[in-house]
Amino acid sequence: MTSSTNNSVRAVVLAAGQGKRMKSARAKVLHDVLGKPILARILDALDKLGTEKIHVVIGHGAAQIVEYLDTTPPATPCSTHVQEPQLGTGHALQQVAPDLTKFSGTLLVTVGDAPLLTTATLSEFIAKHKEDKAVLSLLTTYVDNPKNYGRIVRDLQGQVAKIVEDKDATEEQKRIREINPAIYCLEWPKVAEGLNSLKNDNKQKEYYLTDLVAWAHDHKLAISSLVAMDWREVAAINSRAELAEATSLLRDRTIESLMVEGVTIVDTKGTWIAPEAVIGNDTTIMPGCYITGDVSIGSNCVIGPNTVIHGPVKIGERTTVAQSLVVNSQIGSDCKVGPFSHLREHTVVGDKCRVGNFVEIKKSTIAGSTNASHLSYVGDATVGTKVNIGAGTITANYNHLTGKKFSTVIEDGASTGSNSVLVAPIKLGKRSSVGAGTVATKDVPDGALAVGRARQENKEGWSDRQK
Ligand code: UD1
Ligand code: CA
Repeated sequence: MTSSTNNSVRAVVLAAGQGKRMKSARAKVLHDVLGKPILARILDALDKLGTEKIHVVIGHGAAQIVEYLDTTPPATPCSTHVQEPQLGTGHALQQVAPDLTKFSGTLLVTVGDAPLLTTATLSEFIAKHKEDKAVLSLLTTYVDNPKNYGRIVRDLQGQVAKIVEDKDATEEQKRIREINPAIYCLEWPKVAEGLNSLKNDNKQKEYYLTDLVAWAHDHKLAISSLVAMDWREVAAINSRAELAEATSLLRDRTIESLMVEGVTIVDTKGTWIAPEAVIGNDTTIMPGCYITGDVSIGSNCVIGPNTVIHGPVKIGERTTVAQSLVVNSQIGSDCKVGPFSHLREHTVVGDKCRVGNFVEIKKSTIAGSTNASHLSYVGDATVGTKVNIGAGTITANYNHLTGKKFSTVIEDGASTGSNSVLVAPIKLGKRSSVGAGTVATKDVPDGALAVGRARQENKEGWSDRQK
C-alpha cells in the first residue's frame, strides 16, 4: 500500500545498538510486540508512509536481522548498512552516507526501538518539515518521567537550540519534560557537513546524532519541531519492562479502535489483539484471547474465552470458537469450534461445521456441514460435506520410518464410527460407513460398510469361573 506522495524521501532506521538492558541473545529490534518484531512494526509504518527507500543500520545481531529481512522484506526497497563498531547514533547515520551520494531530499531518521509510531504522525511530521522549509526537524513529546531520554533545550525565542542526553544533563536540564523521541527529518546533503563534524566529547564517548541539532542552530539553519500529542506513540523499548509496556500500549490502542468499530471486548485488559486483526461488528471477544497476525473475523462471532489465534486466519460470520488454538487456518460461517480444538497448517473448515472437544485438524480441507465433535485427529485429509467423523476417529497419516505423510479422502455423506483408525492413503466413498473400532487399511466403496475388527464372542459364565 505504498503511495508515491513521498518522492525524494528516504527512511533510515538505526538498529545497530546492543540493547544491553534486554540481556538477550536476540537483537533488540527482533523482540516480539504482539506477533511482530519491533523492527517489523516500524517497517510497516514506513511502508504505509511510502518512501523511495529504507536504509537499516545494523551491527549487534546483524546476521539475525539480515535473515529476518531476507525472509520478511518490507514492501519498500530496503538496504542494510553494517556499523562496526557501534560508536553512537551519529556514527550510525554516517554509515548510510556512502549510499546517499546521488540523493538529494529528506531523510526521515528513526530509532529502531520505537514500535508504536504511526504512519499518520510520520506523515504529518514530514509535511510540517517541508512546509517550514526546515533543514532539520524533530519530533518531541512531553513525558512525566523523562529519565533516560535526551532533553529538548529551547532558546529564549522558544526555538530548539540543542538536545542534551540524560547522562550529560545538568540537574536543571534533567527537570525538562520535553524529550527527544529520536525521530528526525534531515535535508540531505545540507546536513552532511554537520554529520561529519560530530565529536565524541561526552560521557559515553559516542558520536551523538542529537548534536546535529546544536550544529544546525549554531549555523542558523532552519530547525522545525512537531510536538507529538501522544507520548505513547514514541515510547522506546530499552528493557523487558518497556517491552511489556509497549505491548500493552499497542493492545490498548488496538482494542480502543476495535470497540469504536463495534466489537465487544469483555475484558479490555485480559485480551490481546494485534493491530493487524480485522474484526466485524457485533462480534464478541471473551476474556483471555490472544490474537496476532493477519486475522480476519466476521460479524456476530463469539471468540473465546481463552482462545489463541495466530494468523493468517480467516473466520466467517456467526461462528463461535471457544477455548481453542487456531493457527494459519480458515473457518467458515455458522461453525461451532471448541472447546479445546486445535486447527493448524492451512486447514480450511467450510460453513456450518462442528469441530468439538479435543479435535485436532492439520492441513485438511473440510467442506460444509461436517461434524468432528469429539476426540479426533484429522491430518492431510480432504473431507466432503455432511460427513460425520465419529468420536475418536484418527487418520493414521504418518510413516515414522520414512517420515512420509499420506492423505485421506472422505467423500460426501460418509461416516466413521467411534474409535476408527483410517490408515492413509485411503479413500472412503460417498455415503460409506466405517464401523466402530475398525482399523481401515483399504478404500471403502460408495455406500459400503467397512468393518475390520475381531468379531465379538461372549463367554457365558466367565465371571463365576474366576473365583
Ligand atoms: C537515543 C537518543 C536520545 C533519545 C532516545 C529516544 C542519541 C545520542 N540519543 O538515546 O536523545 O531520547 O534515543 O529513544 O541519539 N544505535 C545504532 N548505533 C549506535 C547506537 C545506537 O544504530 O552506535 C541505534 C540503536 O539500535 C537504537 C537507536 O539507535 O535503535 C537508539 O540507541 P539507544 O542506545 O537506544 O539510544 P538512547 O540512549 O535510547
Ligand atoms: Ca533507546
